[in-house]
Amino acid sequence: MIQHLLHISHVSKHFGGNVAVSDVSFSVDEKQIFGLIGPNGAGKTTLFNCITGFFPATYGDVIFDNKKINSLRPDEVCHLGMVRTWQRVKPLGSLTVLENVMVGAFSITNSIREAEAIAQENLQSVGLTEYANKSAGSLPIGLKKKLELARVLATHPKMLLLDEICGGLNHTETGSILDIIRSVRQKGATIVFIEHDMKAVTSICDRIVVLNSGEKLAEGTPEEITNNPDVIAAYLGGGHNA
Ligand SMILES: Nc1ncnc2c1ncn2[C@@H]1O[C@H](COP(=O)(O)OP(=O)(O)O)[C@@H](O)[C@H]1O
Ligand SMILES: [Mg+2]
Repeated sequence: MIQHLLHISHVSKHFGGNVAVSDVSFSVDEKQIFGLIGPNGAGKTTLFNCITGFFPATYGDVIFDNKKINSLRPDEVCHLGMVRTWQRVKPLGSLTVLENVMVGAFSITNSIREAEAIAQENLQSVGLTEYANKSAGSLPIGLKKKLELARVLATHPKMLLLDEICGGLNHTETGSILDIIRSVRQKGATIVFIEHDMKAVTSICDRIVVLNSGEKLAEGTPEEITNNPDVIAAYLGGGHNA
């Protein structure tokens, strides 16, 4: 039976007088790849921060796996099975690639041996095995993004929230990340995906929500979204009259 894994209900986030997210509601089903798009400053990252406990929503509820998680800390949210990546990847540069992924694995085990095994397995699934003993800081951006994916996968999440995981990557690197995301879903995880590249979003997402100035502008299938005149005007900067 398909059920909502995540339900966002009337979520708002105010920073003083600045309303970064305003009354946003949507639901993500199990095993969906769900896109969250919108122009810079639309409130996408802020919404991720509210969902994953980095700061609480000013109003509204976040329900994950039938539990209200509004006031939980990020580590508590992670233990429930939801983990996020950062728009600006920040691996622990002085640690090796393997050790960075072990940090993720330590959220599900206290055993060093087990953490290493989990880390190796996830390095393999993102194609980084040969870099295991390299310093994480030395990796180029395309591989740092894969390392970020391996680190969150090592927590064995039910849901991954990916904040511009393809940002700054070329076409080939983006394709390779999309392949990993597809295989992660294949294994049973649910993904919420913030991304600017419309081609990438529409090729991989089952459903998309568009934010604009903190508000939900549209929701639908990739086809509905790419044909929505409001979305074309706001997101693609189309704004011109035919
Ligand atoms: N920690 C913060 N303190 C104050 N304002 C913030 C903070 N984080 C984000 N904002 C503001 O919230 C709005 C949405 O930003 P953000 O969520 O980063 O947008 P997006 O990820 O869609 O580009 C912006 O106006 C931004 O300046
Ligand atoms: Mg952002």
